[in-house]
Amino acid sequence: MTTEVDDRKLRSLSFKIWSYKQGEMVSLMIHLGDRLGIYKAMSGEGLLSAEQLAKKTGYKERWLLEWLRGQAAAKILDYHKPDLFELTQEGALLLATEDTGTHFAAGAFTGGVPPETIDSLAEAFTTGIGLSYEQLGSNAAHRTERMLAPWVREALVPQIIPALEGVKEKLENGAVVADVGCGGGLTLTTMAATFPNAEFHGFDPNSHAIANLNERCKELGLTNVKGFVAGGESLPVAPTYDFMLSFDCIHDMTRPMDVIRAVRGSLKPEGTWLIKDIRSHADFEKNMENPLLAMFYGFSISACMSSALSEPGGAGLGTLGFNPQVAREMTSEAGFTRFTEHDFGEAANLYYEVRP
Ligand SMILES: C[S@@+](CC[C@H](N)C(=O)[O-])C[C@H]1O[C@@H](n2cnc3c(N)ncnc32)[C@H](O)[C@@H]1O
Repeated sequence: MTTEVDDRKLRSLSFKIWSYKQGEMVSLMIHLGDRLGIYKAMSGEGLLSAEQLAKKTGYKERWLLEWLRGQAAAKILDYHKPDLFELTQEGALLLATEDTGTHFAAGAFTGGVPPETIDSLAEAFTTGIGLSYEQLGSNAAHRTERMLAPWVREALVPQIIPALEGVKEKLENGAVVADVGCGGGLTLTTMAATFPNAEFHGFDPNSHAIANLNERCKELGLTNVKGFVAGGESLPVAPTYDFMLSFDCIHDMTRPMDVIRAVRGSLKPEGTWLIKDIRSHADFEKNMENPLLAMFYGFSISACMSSALSEPGGAGLGTLGFNPQVAREMTSEAGFTRFTEHDFGEAANLYYEVRP
């Protein structure tokens, strides 16, 4: 170890660290832009001044001007002299087009982690026990759903289900389906609206998420969806389901092996289990090629690994822990014999079609 400070390295590391602070501040600004509907107001409008945007939105011009300049400084908005700003088409896809695109990203910007959650996370480094999704509360359930929703809404029915052997036909003819770890259950409501002959069950121990699911079913008038505040450990023990899904949740579970075995017991012999999990490798060095890897570790400590360690003896897989190799091994150990990996081009996720 050298004791001399390398000035060049110091300046470069200092810039990197302050860049993360800049990221924190820009994240907050993206949250405000999303929450206040400013991106939506700018979408398709071309060049706008703060004054024009104030007229459109009803917000104060001085506040908008500061926000617009900050967004131009962050290179999110295009800037044109003198003080005109544009949300480009690409920017609109990422920040304003929530219901019809797979690119929408603004839903991931939550405005920060509540101070009491930060206190609990700091404590977890001593106790080893993290927070379940239930403990993260109702807002977190909404936020998780909104961040993960675009692909479910746009790709599940037209692209993903048709790629699975025989599943679309079963759904059309009246299958019984369970989403294990369903969260707010957007998978279920999306499929239930398309396949009215099928029956859909959502299992999740998070009561806030199941409340969101029930509320949406009411709004949409869906009568073929039922939500259960229950973990995958309490699935029916007899073969019940033709199709099961688990999206972005095995790595969050304290006892994933118990749930994988329960799914095996609950799935009919010719059934299919579709797992979506984070695109990752068993090898940390390979994962280092992912330019957003640090963000995934942040998700892990603040939500995924925390949930997976929220009970004593939890498996603690965490965001990057259920890679294809682990998925193959764990499902095989539970008695599944068929395993097909699908890459639907999602930057963050891979899918596994698993069958008895
Ligand atoms: C990141 S969220 C994903 C939710 C949903 N599948 C989606 O894609 O929006 C992870 C979910 O796993 C749930 N979960 C944790 N442990 C579980 C268990 N043992 N059985 C079922 N779900 C569980 C959490 O409550 C949380 O709702």
